[in-house]
Amino acid sequence: MKRLVCYTAFLFALTVNISSCGGNSSNNSSTNMDSTTVKKGTTKISWGQTNGKDVFLYTLTNAKGNQVKISTYGGIVTHWISPDKNGNKNSIVLGFDSLSGYLAKPPYFGALVGRYGNRIGDAQFTLDGKTYKLAANNGKNSLHGGLKGFDKQVWDASVANDSTPALTLNYVSKDGEEGFPGTLKVTVQYSLSDDDELKIEYSAVTDKATPINLTNHSYFNLTGDVSNTILNHTLTIHAANYTPVDTSLITTGEIKAVKGTPFDFTVPEKIGARIGQVTGGYDHNFVLDRKDSSLQQAAVLTDSISGRTLEVFTTEPGLQFYTGNFLDGKFTNHDGKVINQHAALCMETQHFPDSPNKPKFPSCILKPGATYHTVTVYKLSVGK
Ligand code: BGC
Repeated sequence: MKRLVCYTAFLFALTVNISSCGGNSSNNSSTNMDSTTVKKGTTKISWGQTNGKDVFLYTLTNAKGNQVKISTYGGIVTHWISPDKNGNKNSIVLGFDSLSGYLAKPPYFGALVGRYGNRIGDAQFTLDGKTYKLAANNGKNSLHGGLKGFDKQVWDASVANDSTPALTLNYVSKDGEEGFPGTLKVTVQYSLSDDDELKIEYSAVTDKATPINLTNHSYFNLTGDVSNTILNHTLTIHAANYTPVDTSLITTGEIKAVKGTPFDFTVPEKIGARIGQVTGGYDHNFVLDRKDSSLQQAAVLTDSISGRTLEVFTTEPGLQFYTGNFLDGKFTNHDGKVINQHAALCMETQHFPDSPNKPKFPSCILKPGATYHTVTVYKLSVGK
């Protein structure tokens, strides 16, 4: 369950805003640009402009020299660079080296997704007796916050006064933006520990009741090479149940047992082993087994080619497991390789899809006076 904690201190006041520190804003390339060291372990470069605003790319570097790069456009994780079992470094997430790649609207590569990650059926919901209409940007449904969700906004950035390299992003979503009620003030903090834990902490407050479901949409390929599909990766998901969907990928409202189905990842399974039995591939929300809302392990992904393991921990009740079914060769990864179907997968920690219309699902409604607070950690390790 999401923790709606009544904090009085407003999160924005905790950080020092440095995003207005200038810099060349017309160049879209991350190469040949001078980087500024903002703090030990954190550097920043100008990354171009969009929406009339300067965009920056931050790099968090831990004591091992491993790096996560984050763009203030969309709060996008553009690279997560670490060594494989042979010591060769490459990025385990899909992404681009320049802002222009993201302005071409790839399907949410690495982005912070909101105000409501995943789908809302028939692009509408009713809250406190009032019906709110959203953009139908996915067939008849609304997907990932609408036409211009949080993934297409420029966030304000600040660097936290913390010994771990960390970046704090703030965004204010106006009352009525993309059809949602209430001014929502959102803070997301990314940090990279020396143990290769990428922690994402999401917080928000509102002045009117609103649905909220924030997630990160990184596409992982642990081999770091998209010419290998993720079908040979092995996955465990701590979920005895999942939420079935209809043909438009809207949850039916049922919660079904995974036992005896291709959705059973309660013990490690090759992703490709049963994918052929799932129409269109995996694109489903798993109901995480949990007793309380503490941070707990949700999934473990391993790959024998690279020797890498990625563990996912979260406070959220659900995990959307998506096998990149709609990737179709239209985009090219950092390394110049074409991104085809199943080149990467997403593990989006979240509330269940279409919760605003499914009263039996855990509530995703944030009310004035409460603080939305969820945490997700992706922990990377490498073996032999
Ligand atoms: C959804 C997919 C969608 C993808 C990109 C995922 O979260 O579950 O259906 O294609 O995002 O938009």
